[in-house]
Amino acid sequence: MALRLGDEAPNFTAETTEGTINFHEWLGDSWGILFSHPKDYTPVCTTELGTMAKIMDEFKKRNVKVIAISVDPLDSHKGWINDINETQNCTVNYPIIADPERKVASLYDMIHPNALDNMTVRSVFIIGPDKKIKLMLTYPASTGRNFDEILRVVDSLQLTAQYQVATPANWKEGEDCIIVPAVKDEEIPSKFPKGHRTIKPYLRYTPQPNK
Ligand code: BEZ
Repeated sequence: MALRLGDEAPNFTAETTEGTINFHEWLGDSWGILFSHPKDYTPVCTTELGTMAKIMDEFKKRNVKVIAISVDPLDSHKGWINDINETQNCTVNYPIIADPERKVASLYDMIHPNALDNMTVRSVFIIGPDKKIKLMLTYPASTGRNFDEILRVVDSLQLTAQYQVATPANWKEGEDCIIVPAVKDEEIPSKFPKGHRTIKPYLRYTPQPNK
């Protein structure tokens, strides 16, 4: 059955460029990002893996572990990493899963045969410290992902896990948040001492609580 938000991220043990990894043990108490690539030695994937390497400190700051996957074997990944480092001016600093038998790709439903024959589509899974899936994104092979957006969602998820807020369209770290409908008006002053503004009874903003 297809995975859905809130499901437990399926566990697996796999060979990676940083040794054998049991996914849940490797995640520990961290947040996690698992992102897939159609194939090694392809242009868009090369830029994506390089971009991720260059912003890895941002994920580390947020206690997020990152792991990539493509269906090619380990030797291929190792050679490709040299190319990524050379062409993208980076050092790939996270593991890449080798999945030639498509075991992990199948578990995560990353092969969409009507879109891309025998390769994984560009999937992104954000996984919480509770091992539950918090976000799933699926991009076509021809469109490289926006890694700033993935960081933005991590910020939103971590904030909304801690406070009774949601984040509006195009929200960015530091901007006002929406008070969730479950919070009664009379609870707002104690829960959101920084203040609030009510636009409609269901649309109430407050400054970002943890800033
Ligand atoms: C790429 O990463 O450039 C790519 C991979 C598979 C199909 C098309 C493009």
